[in-house]
Amino acid sequence: MWDYSEKVLDHYRNPRNVGSIEDADAIGEAGSLACGDSLKIYLKIENGIVTDAKFQTFGCGSAVASSSILTEMIIGKPIEEVRKITNKDIAEALDGLPPEKMHCSVMGHEALEDALKNYFHEEAASQEKIVCTCFNVSEKQIWDAIKENGLKTVDEVTNYTKAGGACGRCKGLIQDIINTYYKKSEEETKLTSTQMVLKVNKIIETLIAPELQKDGGGIELIDIQGNKVMVKLYGRCSSCKNSLVTLKNFVETMLKDKVSKDIEVIQV
Ligand code: FES
Repeated sequence: MWDYSEKVLDHYRNPRNVGSIEDADAIGEAGSLACGDSLKIYLKIENGIVTDAKFQTFGCGSAVASSSILTEMIIGKPIEEVRKITNKDIAEALDGLPPEKMHCSVMGHEALEDALKNYFHEEAASQEKIVCTCFNVSEKQIWDAIKENGLKTVDEVTNYTKAGGACGRCKGLIQDIINTYYKKSEEETKLTSTQMVLKVNKIIETLIAPELQKDGGGIELIDIQGNKVMVKLYGRCSSCKNSLVTLKNFVETMLKDKVSKDIEVIQV
C-alpha cells in the first residue's frame, strides 16, 4: 500500500473540476489507455488568464489527485505563469507523491504542456523521437523529467515517466539519455580559468587558511594550470613530512568538494 498524503486522499475522494468544456480554447492530452493512464485537460482562456479548467482521466488515485489539484493551481492564473508549472510543483502541491507514482504528476504536466502547445499552435509533441514504445514516451519527456527532478538512474526515470517499466528494451537508451544529460550539464558548469582562480582563492582564504592557522600553519596559492592547483604549505606544518601529506590531502579534499571534483593539488 502506498503512503499517500492527506491532500492526495482528499483530491482523490473529492476531485475538483471533473468534466469537459465544450467551447474550450485549448485541449491537451497525455498518456494513453493502452499504457494504463490517460488524461485530457480542457482550458478556457480569456485575456491571457485561465478562467476555467476541467479534466477527464482514466488512471489511479494519484492521477486523479494530480489532475484535480492541477486544475486548482491554474484557474485564475495568467498563462505565462501557468507555463512555468512543473511536475514537481504538482507533486509538492499534493504534499508529495510516492516515488513510484511521480509519473502521475508528470502526466499532468504533459497534458498541460500539450494544451498550451495547441493554444499557441506550437509543434506537436507527437513529432518527437519515441524512446519507449511500450508507453509511448519521447526523448524530450525523459530529458525534461531528468532535468526537472534531478533523476540519476533508469529506475527513477521509470518511476517518473513509466519508460522502461514493461519489456525493458528501452533501458539502454534511457541510460544513454541520462549520461548525455549529466555530461552536458557538467560541461555547462565547467568554470573558466578566471572563475577557477577566483573560486579557489576564495575557498583557500575563507575555509582552508583559517583551519591551517589554528595549528600554526599556512598556505599560499602559487599557480593554477588546468585542474592542477599548485600550493605552498608553510609554518609549523612544513617541518614534518607526514603532516604535509595530511595537509595536502585536506586541501585537495576541500577544493574537490567546494570547487571541482577534478582538482589535483600539487605541493611546490
Ligand atoms: S520499450 Fe520501454 S518498456 Fe518496452
